Amino acid sequence: MPEQLRLPGRLTAPDPGWTTRADVVIVGSGIAGLTAALRLRGQVDKILVVTKDVLNAGSTQWAQGGIAAALGPGDTPEQHEADTLVAGAGACDRDAVRVLVNEGPEAVRELIALGTNFDHTADGELSLTREGGHHRDRIAHAGGDATGAEIQRALIAAIEAAPDIEVIQHALAVDLLLGPDETGTTGVAGLTLHVIGEGERDGVGAVRCRAVVLASGGLGQVFSQTTNPAVTTGDGMALALRAGATLRDLEFVQFHPTVMYLGPESRGQQPLISEAVRGEGAFLVDDDGNRIMQGVHELADLAPRDVVAKTIMKRMLETGRPHMWLDARHLGAEFWERRFPTILATARSYGIDPVTQLIPVAPACHYASGGVRTDLLGRTDLPGLYATGEVACSGVHGANRLASNSLLEGLVFSRRIAEVLPAELPAWREPGADRRTAGLVAGDVRRELQETMSSRVGVLRSAPGLAEAGVVLDKLAGHAAETVDQASWEATNLLTISAALADAAALRQETRGSHWREDFPERDDAHWAGHFDVRMDDGATTVTFAPAPATDGGLA
Ligand code: SIN
Repeated sequence: MPEQLRLPGRLTAPDPGWTTRADVVIVGSGIAGLTAALRLRGQVDKILVVTKDVLNAGSTQWAQGGIAAALGPGDTPEQHEADTLVAGAGACDRDAVRVLVNEGPEAVRELIALGTNFDHTADGELSLTREGGHHRDRIAHAGGDATGAEIQRALIAAIEAAPDIEVIQHALAVDLLLGPDETGTTGVAGLTLHVIGEGERDGVGAVRCRAVVLASGGLGQVFSQTTNPAVTTGDGMALALRAGATLRDLEFVQFHPTVMYLGPESRGQQPLISEAVRGEGAFLVDDDGNRIMQGVHELADLAPRDVVAKTIMKRMLETGRPHMWLDARHLGAEFWERRFPTILATARSYGIDPVTQLIPVAPACHYASGGVRTDLLGRTDLPGLYATGEVACSGVHGANRLASNSLLEGLVFSRRIAEVLPAELPAWREPGADRRTAGLVAGDVRRELQETMSSRVGVLRSAPGLAEAGVVLDKLAGHAAETVDQASWEATNLLTISAALADAAALRQETRGSHWREDFPERDDAHWAGHFDVRMDDGATTVTFAPAPATDGGLA
């Protein structure tokens, strides 16, 4: 068991300067958060949506490829289930996957009814494409490669037409307020927020509520290069952990294989080259023009994402090159302009014309398959706390999320939360005295933290590298913040999640899905079929293993 860091039990923050009340607070404004708000509407009295930046600043907006559902001729939820389980490398929760694939088609139809303009064929049918790990064309897309932006637009339009749903933007969720119910059981009594310049609600305030739905997205900014926007600093996962909820499967971070390589100094959000480009026929080559995916997997360039990312990394290591190439020149100018206008414009803005040139690509952090553990109805193990979307671990992704299952997860599980929450809304709790030890690390640890996580806990992991990461994270935990500000809150959240992720990665001594151990290159169901759960008690974390049978029939 790696030695555990002592981390803040809660974030240092000024006392609340304002208060407000809502029955349900939804943290996050992507597909998961806004779907939860719209579906809860009319069922609970007061809904408040809080979002860290503006409504469309999260990851949903950036989703390119699309949303997967068994909507095409000949396709079935059972086939979607089989592909999801295989991609998840034995670590999916089969019941959660069944919920996802069975409720997915209806949920996507509902998005269409809401006004989302998906692409259609000349015959007026929904246009469906294929991505890695799918044996069928089942990815619905919009604006060619702007699916997330179109979904986000439609959801925001619906929220703006719902004046009874209150929205506070530029609001960072700092920590949960906790209190006992009449039986003495601790649960959610509200949360503290830091709001930048929203009228009277400026600075730190307290929102009293009966339930919180976390829909705050992932942790991409833990790593130096990611496809995720700047807001994804793991805030939701960190505050849930500090409050006593369980995090599961944190070690399963998906690295997208084809992220445009912008040079060794490039940091932060990097341009994604959607898997759908390979779905339409693009292929990966090395410097000599050799196709690197042929002979590696029956689906070649459309193998599950972990297989493609590992093959690229292996070839990069063998050749000493910092990237491989994506060849999509044969798609032609007209096809590129119609099907992938966003990617085309982005690549050209960086001086690469995919119509005539190869695109340099390398893996970068893309998606957290783990998160706050939930049941099939989005409930966490902290009364009054629900979680949905990337912040959650519903069990659908296992060790490696199947392409385009993420928007679907947020959609399906937010609908489920809205089905149960109104009837089980807890009574108001009074916040109790918060005995957790407050603390904060300095905002300027961020860069070293990200470099360490990328080089030691990234695509390739090994015991020595993970131990080195532990030493650096321990050192960074000692850099106390001198100022209380957003940079320090985010850095503390990043450190909290990084430490938990690195611990779970060190303990999982096998290679499975997106978790690749150089020193344990095989999947090992005899020892490691199951999940690592992380819990925290006043800044001290414990990691435990919960065995569970492999859910893909042992297929590697
Ligand atoms: C992509 O378009 O390649 C990303 C889709 C996804 O992450 O599911």
